[in-house]
Amino acid sequence: MLSEAARPYIDASVSVLREHGVAITTHFYDAMFAAHPEFKNIFNMGNQASGTQQQSLAAAVFAYAANYRNPDALTPVVERIVHKHASLGITADHYPIVGKHLLDAIQAVLGDAATPELLAAWGEAYGVLANVLIEAEKTLYAKAGVTPGELQTLVVKEIRQESDNVKSFYLQTLDGKSPGNFQPGQYISVAGTVDGLRQLRQYSLSDAPDQNWWRISVKREDENQPAGLISNWLHDDIDVGDMLEASAAFGDFKPAIDGEDPIILLSAGVGITPMISVLNTLAKRNPSRRVVFAHAARHGSHHPLRGDLRKARASLKAMTEVQFYETPQSNDEVGVDYQYSGRMALGKLGLDAYPQANIYLCGPSGFMQQQWKSLVGAGVAPSRIHREVFGPDLLDHIL
Ligand SMILES: Cc1cc2nc3c(=O)[nH]c(=O)nc-3n(C[C@H](O)[C@H](O)[C@H](O)COP(=O)(O)OP(=O)(O)OC[C@H]3O[C@@H](n4cnc5c(N)ncnc54)[C@H](O)[C@@H]3O)c2cc1C
Ligand code: HEM
Repeated sequence: MLSEAARPYIDASVSVLREHGVAITTHFYDAMFAAHPEFKNIFNMGNQASGTQQQSLAAAVFAYAANYRNPDALTPVVERIVHKHASLGITADHYPIVGKHLLDAIQAVLGDAATPELLAAWGEAYGVLANVLIEAEKTLYAKAGVTPGELQTLVVKEIRQESDNVKSFYLQTLDGKSPGNFQPGQYISVAGTVDGLRQLRQYSLSDAPDQNWWRISVKREDENQPAGLISNWLHDDIDVGDMLEASAAFGDFKPAIDGEDPIILLSAGVGITPMISVLNTLAKRNPSRRVVFAHAARHGSHHPLRGDLRKARASLKAMTEVQFYETPQSNDEVGVDYQYSGRMALGKLGLDAYPQANIYLCGPSGFMQQQWKSLVGAGVAPSRIHREVFGPDLLDHIL
């Protein structure tokens, strides 16, 4: 708990952080990487270059300052962070290093406004938050039965081309077993070294658990320059029989599989991966579940995992499926491959029939923002909406 003495300083920081948050976190990362170049192997340097990592940390610090009196509001944010940290192998002894550089950055950016009292208050707040994260991460490591930072060596058993730009990789332990249990919706971190830089990236497990493999389905990121480091490495350099280093499964996005209440899955682009894991699991464990599955793709050639969808459809008799193609092509058949052209529109999903259902969203940030706004605008309680973001969460839905 934050002391009474520190509270006025944290309260007064809210407006300062709104204005200077990204400057502080940018300064923080620059100084920390200069002092600890080895951290470049843990942090995602693509997110660093695009600035989303700096925005994400600034958003989290801001969310903390604005909400520390109401810890419930912070629970989902903390959950997301600790799962991400655990997949990356963050340990308690990393925290003092990050804390030092964060306080130095506050001092450097605020100059004279960073009084000793303000710095002491932030030192205390950082300690409180760090302890919450460290304890939660210890619990996650213990549950997963792994030493922090430990990766397992997996062999690529099979590779399948799922669409023009998505490949699935089937991964097994060296003795041909499943690399571990997971809940549909969870992800793993995969390590790769390209041009001497070791990097970790998260990939959602895209098939059901309880099989003797894990599957990830990776989209090649080559539309922007520079082309994505690890996705292109996986697509171009990894063959059947190669080894990959991967974490245990983590992630707080875990659509409930059991139960009878309807479940609504809304995805776009490669955000379909955790949803297919959910569908494949429901098809095995709870095939009578009422499901609304809606997906938005550019067109049929950019619509991965359609074979899985066909199979799940055959088992899930109470599934309503609505497919949107933004720019259908001549070989895409309306009524067969897709139902509507254009972007996903909530009005076409008939969600009014499911007033209590939990809604799960996964896709690019523009899609997530749009659906969140439309759902909340239509009166859906935010507590019913669950999100998986394929990048650092900028928390723009709550800030
Ligand atoms: C929980 C989670 C689950 C995920 N699940 C999946 C999944 O199932 N399937 C999937 O395909 N992906 C998934 N992702 C995304 C995945 O982790 C990677 O982010 C994605 O593969 C891109 O990584 P990369 O190394 O190829 O690209 P990066 O090298 O990280 O580049 C990403 C973007 O940043 C830009 N960039 C890089 N360097 C610079 C620079 N110097 N200047 C300007 N811009 C730059 C690139 O142009 C590119 O657009 C998931 C992410 C998360 C967090
Ligand atoms: C109180 C302290 C900390 C806070 C508030 C914090 C916050 C965050 C947030 C908000 C994210 C983004 C989560 C997301 O994907 O949405 C993140 C990711 C990350 N954090 Fe922390 N963190 C803290 C401490 C640390 C420490 C000590 C380390 C160790 C070096 C660390 C390393 C990372 C890494 C490597 C990522 C992933 C970055 C990326 O993929 O872009 N963090 N953290």
